[in-house]
Amino acid sequence: MLIGTLNIENINPVKQIVKKCKRFSSSLEHSHQHIIIEFEKGLNPADLDASKVEAQILGYGEISTVFQIDGLELLACKRMPLFEKKSDAEAYERNYRLYCRHLSDAGITIPNDYTLVVENQGRPVTLYIIQDQLQASNFAHKLIHTESDKESESIIRSVVIEIKKIWDYNRQKSPDLELALDGQLSNWVKSGNQFIYIDTSTPLFKIKGIEQLDPELFLKSAPSFLRWLIRWLFLQDVMDRYYNLRQVFLDLAGNLYKENKPELIPAALKIINDNLDENDEPIIEKEVTKYYKEDKLIWALFLALRRFDRLLKTTLFRQRYEYILPGNIKR
Ligand SMILES: Nc1ncnc2c1ncn2[C@@H]1O[C@H](COP(=O)(O)OP(=O)(O)O)[C@@H](O)[C@H]1O
Ligand SMILES: [Mg+2]
Repeated sequence: MLIGTLNIENINPVKQIVKKCKRFSSSLEHSHQHIIIEFEKGLNPADLDASKVEAQILGYGEISTVFQIDGLELLACKRMPLFEKKSDAEAYERNYRLYCRHLSDAGITIPNDYTLVVENQGRPVTLYIIQDQLQASNFAHKLIHTESDKESESIIRSVVIEIKKIWDYNRQKSPDLELALDGQLSNWVKSGNQFIYIDTSTPLFKIKGIEQLDPELFLKSAPSFLRWLIRWLFLQDVMDRYYNLRQVFLDLAGNLYKENKPELIPAALKIINDNLDENDEPIIEKEVTKYYKEDKLIWALFLALRRFDRLLKTTLFRQRYEYILPGNIKR
């Protein structure tokens, strides 16, 4: 199933066994794997400039950092240092593959992708989810700033139509399968006259009602003594919202605040309300405002807790801190 699981302590090209992935991915070139392994080995998460292999950050996820690694300019490498054991990383990888397959079956276009599990003694096992790198200026959250309002509305309409495909698919597959999706504008990239969905690295889906993603993985990057609080406060809420079409649309509308284009909200709501399920209440702007405030608070709190954890680990306990947090990158 997987592309390759390589121990970077033991790089010997002759010994490396690279299993071809069966389905959607073709195998990542051997030399490319080598670069990623070297990158991971020499990475200094506390000071990227001090890392052995140079890289630029393309974006931050809740549980991943997206890199353009020197020598791999055509790829976007999503680093997830989340796993205690290789088998945990491989289980995640399998879920990821299955999720991507279902997204494609549902009619969503996703980029070419590869995966690589990297082991490094004394550190967490890291999964890299690697995609073709798409042009930054074609991301929907960028286009709404460079295109006319009319064109921006048309982009939002296209995104809404793409999102709906998931819920059409879920209806067909019910009750065996249910996919979730994060509809935010920064997850969609225009290519010709279609939109590609790039946020595939958090495989949220249920099989016969059972969640396939271990929610504790989200908590790995938060301080252990506060995990109960996060779990209790909002984890379930945050996960559930991606399964509900109306909530995903609400999130999309709220996203226009984050992207500094609130003037598009009334037009977006018109499009969204025309595409809601019959039984769903139309969304009004007041609800969007309230939702956005709460959402912002949740993620700000989560980030603040992670920063606190980093401070404790690096200063008090003098440990290595694995994650790279937004807002503190030296360039
Ligand atoms: N394939 C890609 N090509 C170029 N940039 C990317 C790609 N994938 C992700 N990014 C950048 O990283 C950001 C976060 O990636 P994403 O996969 O959406 O992670 P998250 O789950 O954290 O939202 C994107 O909004 C984009 O700016
Ligand atoms: Mg995203």
